[in-house]
Amino acid sequence: MARNKVTVVGAGNVGGTTAQRLAERNYTDVVLVDIVEGLPQGKALDILQSGPIYGYDSQVTGTNDYADTAGSDVVVITSGSPRKPGMSRDDLLETNQKIVGSVTRSIVEHSPDAIIVVVANPLDAMCHVALKDSGFPRERVVGMAGILDTARYRTFIAQEVGVSVREVNAIVLGGHGDTMVPLPSMATVGGVPITKLLPEDRVEAIVQRTRDGGAEIGGLLKTGSAFYAPSAASVEMVDSILLDQKRILPCAVHLEGEYGINDLFVGVPVKLGSKGVEEVVELELTDAEKSELKTSADAVQELVNVLNG
Ligand code: LAC
Repeated sequence: MARNKVTVVGAGNVGGTTAQRLAERNYTDVVLVDIVEGLPQGKALDILQSGPIYGYDSQVTGTNDYADTAGSDVVVITSGSPRKPGMSRDDLLETNQKIVGSVTRSIVEHSPDAIIVVVANPLDAMCHVALKDSGFPRERVVGMAGILDTARYRTFIAQEVGVSVREVNAIVLGGHGDTMVPLPSMATVGGVPITKLLPEDRVEAIVQRTRDGGAEIGGLLKTGSAFYAPSAASVEMVDSILLDQKRILPCAVHLEGEYGINDLFVGVPVKLGSKGVEEVVELELTDAEKSELKTSADAVQELVNVLNG
């Protein structure tokens, strides 16, 4: 069997650590592509040279030429410009729409059968760009946000309760922004809902810290944003797809009527396997949760309207 091939677009911190984590998994070759000359080549060579120490044989290649990405099974798009001083949210949206659109077209030209994992921000809006510019069915364009947001939520719950993170099951729905919806009713520790373990104000505080998770790290780093957990989350998605694990993971998916939402990328649980999004899992939500999800979807819709405007 031929080895799998994953292309990571963007050799910044998220792209670089994603390539590194994938190489360490030792089941796929990795191509790191960026427009900056030397950057993907240098990082790829550095990751390749860790192989003898870590014991992996993954081939890792850096390039500025999309021809080298040909035949990729999965493409992770991390590229995009960070928000610069004086730049409005809409300016950023427009800049990254151009970048993600052009990347998507280059990818499709060389890997028409790939599954695209979008990581670029603003996440949900960039998923729309990738879906439209690829012409792919929704099964093959999926966004990374829910796993990251849920990992933050699980971390805070585990710390508060004093248990292993592995005992914490939880899920965050909605867009990747201030209106995301961490569900307390479905957060459990060893099967017990956190609403039975923690006072309401502690649950509220954890929910709010989760919503602010990206900003908290950005504030600490001062320049740049999180990349360790974002890359870990991206790799969990690639694993589930390429190893056909059929994990049920919160991801941004193009909803077509599910959850009462139509023609919009919103984070919900999906089954990820070798065909990409193999199923959208519809959770039974309370009326309050439904209304929070609607608010979050409306926030995504506003960004999409700007894209289309
Ligand atoms: C975060 C940003 C980078 O949540 O999306 O860390």
